[in-house]
Amino acid sequence: MCLDTVLDATYWNDLYLKGDTGWDKGVASPPLARMLREGVVPKGSSIAVIGAGRGHDAIEAARLGYRVTAVDFAAEAAKDISNNAHGAGVRLDVLQADLFTGLKGPYDAVLEHTCFCAIDVARRDEYVTAIARALKPGGTLFGLFYAHGREGGPPFDVSEDEVRRRFSGRFVIERLRRAPDSFEARAGRELEAVFRLSPSES
Ligand SMILES: C[S@@+](CC[C@H](N)C(=O)[O-])C[C@H]1O[C@@H](n2cnc3c(N)ncnc32)[C@H](O)[C@@H]1O
Repeated sequence: MCLDTVLDATYWNDLYLKGDTGWDKGVASPPLARMLREGVVPKGSSIAVIGAGRGHDAIEAARLGYRVTAVDFAAEAAKDISNNAHGAGVRLDVLQADLFTGLKGPYDAVLEHTCFCAIDVARRDEYVTAIARALKPGGTLFGLFYAHGREGGPPFDVSEDEVRRRFSGRFVIERLRRAPDSFEARAGRELEAVFRLSPSES
């Protein structure tokens, strides 16, 4: 897909400045909070929350005892994460960086939530490579993929078949199913994912 709009840091930062952030529910996503509580990665693990937005999921992870780096390339988002974490009384690192070039790592895990659907569709394989590179051997990618079934974007639709196809070469797909406890407006349209980096990548 060729986009007229460049989905760079300026594009996203402008949305934050305008308050045009309809994706932001003001709290951590219920399926993600559950997965964190379940321990899909052990407590104390290092987690990079990519495209962290205002940091609700990152703050929940830090509150539950994970070592969190919240990554977002929009300056306003990075500022909001710091303020919100301070307000919540939790400690986390904020990294204002492009996930394609600036992920530090290696991390035990990467948390995905409405970031894959926010990037240019033509960059999806590049995303897989960036995440694989940022993980420790056997590391985990977990989170939610937004299978909303509509045209256009962002957010750009993704199907279960596509997720399987793009990730299965480099990750072992441990879980990929419709989340049972999404926000009401997204019910039935979020794919809950737990992928472990393949031994051949390590
Ligand atoms: C739709 S918002 C979702 C924010 C948050 N995950 C949430 O669900 O509330 C997408 C976020 O990803 C960030 N983002 C998009 N592309 C990025 C990239 N290449 N590197 C880092 N952040 C990126 C945007 O700045 C924005 O904050």
